[in-house]
Amino acid sequence: MSNEKKPNIGEDFIRFHRIVTRSLEVGLGNINEFLKGGGVDKSKREGFLNYVESFSSFLDGHHKVENQLVFPYFKPLLPEVPYVQLMTEHKEVESLLQEINSGLNSLRSKKDEISSLKQLKSSFVKIDHIWHPHIQIEETQLFQKVGSLNINMDEMTSIQKKFSDFFQEHTGPAYLVVPFALYNLSPEDRALLAAGFPEMVTKQLVPGDWKDKWISMQPFLLR
Ligand SMILES: [Fe+2]
Ligand SMILES: [Fe+2]
Repeated sequence: MSNEKKPNIGEDFIRFHRIVTRSLEVGLGNINEFLKGGGVDKSKREGFLNYVESFSSFLDGHHKVENQLVFPYFKPLLPEVPYVQLMTEHKEVESLLQEINSGLNSLRSKKDEISSLKQLKSSFVKIDHIWHPHIQIEETQLFQKVGSLNINMDEMTSIQKKFSDFFQEHTGPAYLVVPFALYNLSPEDRALLAAGFPEMVTKQLVPGDWKDKWISMQPFLLR
């Protein structure tokens, strides 16, 4: 018997939620600090833009994979989950992420920094209000139940791969989003997430070839 953990897509998605929960908090905390200080801290500027861009791409990709693959897969197995409500909330978040993207663009072009920050803040606060009750429903009614659904290991591995390929196709750039995901997690969760990536990514690209591109985000990440 191997002691390797059995794959469980429900636990994967709860882990993805932790990434979003932390980055929402870190994003909002920094926006508030920048507003108090009269603008974006110059030494954190590049990292902050990359961090918020990664957050936006990660959350958008998370909702796309739930809408298009996860919910349709689990609907026959767990029919009582309020899928329509969850997808309506995804739509609301989607338009708030578009606001965040346009706030980022105006911050990048160094137009009116304070009003861009205020726009970002308002979108972050609105997402935060939707997010916590939303994941409460997903986790208690869906993701925590996956372990008891009797999905065999081959099937679980195959949907895990399908979901992860889809997610990668719909997010990016990988040199930001992958380190963003890994380092918004505790070391224990990070090791579990990293186990699902090719070694080339975790041992070579993230610490090597990609490092110059993502290292500016470090003030916002865990070690
Ligand atoms: Fe969701
Ligand atoms: Fe979710």
